[in-house]
Amino acid sequence: MSRSVTPAVLSREDERFRRRYGSWAVVAGASEGLGATWAEHLAAFGLNVVLVARRQAMLDDLAERLAKQYEIQTRALALDLAEPEALDALVAATQDLDVGLLIYNAARSAIGPFLATPLEDHLTEIAVNVRAPMTLSHAFGQRFVARGRGGIILLSSLSATIGSAYIADYAATKAYNLILGEGLWEELRTQGVDVLACCPSAVSTPNYLASAPKRQQAVVTPELVVKQTLGQLGRRPSFIPGAGNQFFAFILRRLLPRRMVTRIMGNVMRGMYAK
Ligand SMILES: NC(=O)c1ccc[n+]([C@@H]2O[C@H](COP(=O)([O-])OP(=O)(O)OC[C@H]3O[C@@H](n4cnc5c(N)ncnc54)[C@H](OP(=O)(O)O)[C@@H]3O)[C@@H](O)[C@H]2O)c1
Repeated sequence: MSRSVTPAVLSREDERFRRRYGSWAVVAGASEGLGATWAEHLAAFGLNVVLVARRQAMLDDLAERLAKQYEIQTRALALDLAEPEALDALVAATQDLDVGLLIYNAARSAIGPFLATPLEDHLTEIAVNVRAPMTLSHAFGQRFVARGRGGIILLSSLSATIGSAYIADYAATKAYNLILGEGLWEELRTQGVDVLACCPSAVSTPNYLASAPKRQQAVVTPELVVKQTLGQLGRRPSFIPGAGNQFFAFILRRLLPRRMVTRIMGNVMRGMYAK
């Protein structure tokens, strides 16, 4: 598949973006969906990209296409980010590169009743969605502070702000990323490092569409999420892509009682996922 992307953030800012976040970006969870879209947009900016996920063949295909299409360098690393050793391996395998941007996009989402889901699945969710982004933010954050510039984007979710039945553990891991990202935004911004927690609602990625057979109308596209979020890096601690989702979040979080919102979310989730 050959697609083409025009640079995401305002084009007159391309040079600033490259200077601050180049010359290499690491995209963790890059083989498909949003991850591949992040990589494509960064490549369009002229950043070299390290692509990380478990499926080597998909990474290799994407790496080859981006290198050819955007005349950049790529590195494809097949790693299971649930494993602590894989995090060490990723840090070691990028030691020789001038990395200026980390996007932690990988996620595991166990959907279904909490008690019917094996504990092992919940623990893997915590390894991929919590331990890995924290560990990599620690490792790359140190590098970025040492060079005086850089950026970290952590993928949270709109579900981070409301307890959600059927995805209770997943939503809790996303709350971790939201709060970690916002805290690091304040802590690191004076040292030249921009941190942003990205909180999308439903995005039309292949896995989302496959996981929600009863509700195929996704709210936003991966392209919208990536374009808008890259434009907000360095401007705020967290961001909800899509004006409609920002309005929806405002109503849910500010206007309605929490008890009611949690019940509403439960009904939505049951409608989507109950057998
Ligand atoms: N799609 C939505 O509706 C939505 C809404 C809100 C937030 N988000 C967040 O946005 C991000 C991307 O969503 P998405 O729908 O594009 O997800 P996705 O299609 O499930 O893709 C996740 C990526 O992470 C990789 N990955 C998963 N487990 C991994 C592991 N153990 N080690 C290494 N890589 C792993 C996958 O590749 P491999 O399988 O090859 O490893 C894939 O490249 C996630 O953080 C998600 O929580 C998505």
